[in-house]
Amino acid sequence: MTRIFNLTFHSGDPMNRPIYTPPGGPPRLERPNPAIYAQMGEENIFRMLEDFYVELAHSSIAGMFPRGEEAMRRTSRKSAAFFVTLLGGPPLYQQQYGRPMMRGRHLPFPIDEPARQEWLACFRRVLDNAPAAYHFPPEYLDGFWTFLVGFSGWMVNTAPPGADWEPGDEIPLFGD
Ligand code: HEM
Repeated sequence: MTRIFNLTFHSGDPMNRPIYTPPGGPPRLERPNPAIYAQMGEENIFRMLEDFYVELAHSSIAGMFPRGEEAMRRTSRKSAAFFVTLLGGPPLYQQQYGRPMMRGRHLPFPIDEPARQEWLACFRRVLDNAPAAYHFPPEYLDGFWTFLVGFSGWMVNTAPPGADWEPGDEIPLFGD
């Protein structure tokens, strides 16, 4: 593995693509208020994530996800287990799947900034409806959204479009 600034080249990467690391490292974010779980409970969080995955299935990034309603529902439950903990509930995800290591788990998927924006737009649509549909406490919506915006930035692993390099390019390290 070679690091050149914030581009990491994994020589064993089956997709043979350079991995982009957002500058600044993992963001320091305030955890969403645990009162969210207390008010919503597990079932509502699972329903919210199921609907989020329906949005994803109809989005421009649908191709990254498993195909078919049933497969998407199953996948949504994996994410929901994580969100239960994130929103203040028990460690369901860790119990079932191990350490979250979210950035690492997203590396197989080429996530660039437009993909992140699409992901966020899907979540926004679900959140706009969340107080009525899943008892999401409205006073904590902004805080949760701020968390999603920040954390999703850390999932980006593919250079911004228009970046003036291709895999294998020589990258000047010390100016010209
Ligand atoms: C930046 C935009 C993002 C994109 C495009 C994205 C995309 C994906 C994809 C393609 C999967 C794998 C689905 C599968 O085949 O099972 C996945 C899994 C997952 N994502 Fe994201 N994701 C993003 C951001 C986030 C964020 C911000 C979070 C948490 C706050 C998150 C939480 C999860 C979880 C918990 C899983 C399940 C992990 C596992 O496989 O165990 N994602 N995501």
